[in-house]
Amino acid sequence: MNVQQLESTAEALVTEGKGILAADESLGTIGKRFNAVGIESTEESRRAYREMLFITPGIGEFLSGVILFDETIRQKASDGTPLPEVLVEQGIIPGIKVDKGAKEMAFAPGEKVTEGLDGLRERLAEYKEMGARFAKWRAVITIVGQSLPTRRCIDANALTLARYAALCQEANIVPIVEPEVLIDGNHTIERCFEVTEETLRSTFNALYELRVHPKELLLKPNMVISGKEAPEQAGVEDVARYTVECLLRSVPAAVPGIVFLSGGQTDVQATKHLNAMNTMYENLPWELSFSYARALQELPMKTWAGDAENVEEAQRIFLHRAKMNSAARYGCYSEEIERDLVA
Ligand code: 13P
Repeated sequence: MNVQQLESTAEALVTEGKGILAADESLGTIGKRFNAVGIESTEESRRAYREMLFITPGIGEFLSGVILFDETIRQKASDGTPLPEVLVEQGIIPGIKVDKGAKEMAFAPGEKVTEGLDGLRERLAEYKEMGARFAKWRAVITIVGQSLPTRRCIDANALTLARYAALCQEANIVPIVEPEVLIDGNHTIERCFEVTEETLRSTFNALYELRVHPKELLLKPNMVISGKEAPEQAGVEDVARYTVECLLRSVPAAVPGIVFLSGGQTDVQATKHLNAMNTMYENLPWELSFSYARALQELPMKTWAGDAENVEEAQRIFLHRAKMNSAARYGCYSEEIERDLVA
């Protein structure tokens, strides 16, 4: 394990003013997203779409890394350049999703545990050859009233995340550890706080037990937020405050950065929440950044709609969204700069 290399990659991923694009949707997920906006999902349409995002002029100013899916890391741009190389040319670090999805957990009705540890050491070695310098593994935790999640589901996922992270560090790949407490449901923000704290404590405990180095990983958590169906929705400042207070209680100061998922928030909401955290708090022990999929891609994907004629407009919208989140990293996002796009 090369500690210096891992630390410098982790730090580069949370460089000031830059964040991560999660473009690692599995075949099922990208199929659903394409379908919703009338794009047929084929190997070629997925390739063309992702190439369009990656070659967006100037995108390297706002993105430090992109997370790829197994299919994508093996694909090439129209000019024959492998897609990971296209990213490197933009000054962006290629990463790879290595989990194989969240599956029903035995003896835990309604809960899931993420699979993908079998053969992971060999897969990591292959991805490293292909240029990946960091990886991602997502675990999902479901809230249902006071009955879910169960402790056994939280702990099973925490242990799995820790085993994945240890294998990554052994392979000189920075692990992004993603325990996502889902936004689905009608729970309050307080209930989200309680479950997120329990999940993060269990996760960092497992990481410690398995000797994973906290300085050479990034955490990708949910924000602490009201359930999507909750009758009362917490405002922007409350989300920012609850989220940072929860993280202060449960994430070691040695972790260099926290890169949030957007998790079903709208694109503007995800930007506003990140901005509020960076405005309201100074001198936090970690960088607060983004690793969004939907909140960066929703409008660009819809605008592209599978038509080469729309590439320029989709890229313009994508660049703008990345720029807004870059501003949120400094706490200088505003509705005024949001409107610049229209001008
Ligand atoms: P969202 O930002 O759409 O939640 O996706 C982030 C991600 O990478 C989920 O694993």
